[in-house]
Amino acid sequence: MQLYIDSAVPQEVEKMMALGIIDGVTTNPSLAAKAGMTYKEAVAKILKIVPDNISLEVLSTDAPGMIREGRALTKMGKNVVIKLPTTEEGLKALKVLTKTGIRVNMTLVFSANQALLVAKLGAYIVSPFIGRLDDIGQTGIDLIDEIRQIYDNYGFKTKILFASVRSPLHVKQAALASADIATCPYDVLEKLVKHPLTDIGLKKFLDDFKESGQKPLV
Ligand code: G3P
Repeated sequence: MQLYIDSAVPQEVEKMMALGIIDGVTTNPSLAAKAGMTYKEAVAKILKIVPDNISLEVLSTDAPGMIREGRALTKMGKNVVIKLPTTEEGLKALKVLTKTGIRVNMTLVFSANQALLVAKLGAYIVSPFIGRLDDIGQTGIDLIDEIRQIYDNYGFKTKILFASVRSPLHVKQAALASADIATCPYDVLEKLVKHPLTDIGLKKFLDDFKESGQKPLV
């Protein structure tokens, strides 16, 4: 499963790239605002850090506007993927952009039927927002299972991206449900490697070594 970072903070992206655990980035104007940066500033920096799979969101809500913006954003780099909202206008823009080879990530997906439509139109990525379904008392992961089954039934190649990740549990759920990608906030990525028993175990090895007065192997 690929891991993306869901962030507009270049330092966060840089750190996770250096660690070697991320394969892409999802970002949006809300994340940039939260980081106290303009979307433009944040994106310009991130495009230089990550070689591929950087999803950039359009701001237009009508198809012609989305198409125009999508084409312009694509010119910012070969590593750009265009993120469109899953509305009727979004579907129209998806059809046009994919026909010219532009990779599109269809976002704000909350149902299996929305996922079916975007796959039929050739989306590169579908982004169901699982955390937001959990927030309203639904079992978000069920949606990943449904989409996986539908895509496997018909051989759709659209990648399933588990979005709106809130915890390490979500990442495990994504992997168990055969999602292709999970996009995670920085703090969730940091938590993935941590386990208290690892720290306790490491301390014990080192203490035992020191107390027994042994010499290192090398
Ligand atoms: O990738 C989508 C993400 O930014 C949404 O996350 O936590 O606002 O539901 P959240």
